[in-house]
Amino acid sequence: MAFTPSSGPCFPTTRLRRPRAHDWSRRLVGESRLSVDDLIWPIFVTDGPDAGAEVSSMPGVIRRDVAGAVEAAEEAASLGIPALALFPQTDPGLKDPQGSYALDPENLVCRAVRAIKDSGAKVGLVCDVALDPYTSHGHDGVLENGCILNDESVALLVSQALVLAEAGADVVAPSDMMDGRVGAIRHALDNAGRQDVMICAYAAKYASAFYGPFRDAVGSAANLGQGDKRTYQMNPGNRDEALREVALDLAEGADMVMVKPGLPYLDIIAAVKQEFGAPTFAYQVSGEYAMIRAAALNGWIDGDKAMVESLLAFKRAGADAVLTYFAPMVARLLGR
Ligand code: PBG
Repeated sequence: MAFTPSSGPCFPTTRLRRPRAHDWSRRLVGESRLSVDDLIWPIFVTDGPDAGAEVSSMPGVIRRDVAGAVEAAEEAASLGIPALALFPQTDPGLKDPQGSYALDPENLVCRAVRAIKDSGAKVGLVCDVALDPYTSHGHDGVLENGCILNDESVALLVSQALVLAEAGADVVAPSDMMDGRVGAIRHALDNAGRQDVMICAYAAKYASAFYGPFRDAVGSAANLGQGDKRTYQMNPGNRDEALREVALDLAEGADMVMVKPGLPYLDIIAAVKQEFGAPTFAYQVSGEYAMIRAAALNGWIDGDKAMVESLLAFKRAGADAVLTYFAPMVARLLGR
């Protein structure tokens, strides 16, 4: 007998297309959602002539002076974006091998943090702890005879974290990948009476080609030159090691852990969330932003849809929040 779809009494019993048929039922069976509450907006601050200018490899992203950073904070608050992450483009004349300007309480990031806090804008402020925006060699730590010294770097990172906390940072985010820095920073913050300051550890941070536009934006690309960060950032092929990094950072007192980059490492985000159940953030980094924007500007993909889909993917993987340069754009879209 010839088979026809109607020949069986119950062919097929389960039709997964049934609930997909209407907007209302698609909404009801939706599993992951993207909300403005999930967003952290990274911004670039500058003292120099580049204020207001677009980062050429990140169309739609501008560098801001301190007043512009305050405007971004007010914009974030009005859009409902919970937090900003601040990254400085340091005057090349202020860079040295130790990254001394990182420890100056009057440095650009500290001034921006104070100005935002003084403005009363209701946003959390996340500040990177790492020396690369400040070092003449572009590395995140101290360089000696071609080696990045771990413990010497941690000592400086601890001082940097204290300076940032003093300026008013709500969250310090060590992105340097030195061993033991989370515990050292926690200890120092507590001793300084700053038990209130959170630590978001860049726990699983890979040595990635996707940071290129960021290094243009903060001006560290030229300093780093042909150098790479493979002696401290992770090998993109490693998964077990990411879980060990997260375990250590949580044991050392991290309040949140981050996986970075984002989309190429969704499996790591999922594993981290499943294994530890801790607040897990993802960083959709500069190169990911640049790829989506470039394709959209060429008319090769629908930029808005690709933006939302990429961010929803982080939620599906288990991320609690996402650092994304799309934050204001997607917040506007979600608010409609
Ligand atoms: C610095 C730092 C980097 C990023 C955030 N903090 C670059 C790097 O490690 O070289 C990259 C963010 C991005 O690409 O958007 N430690």
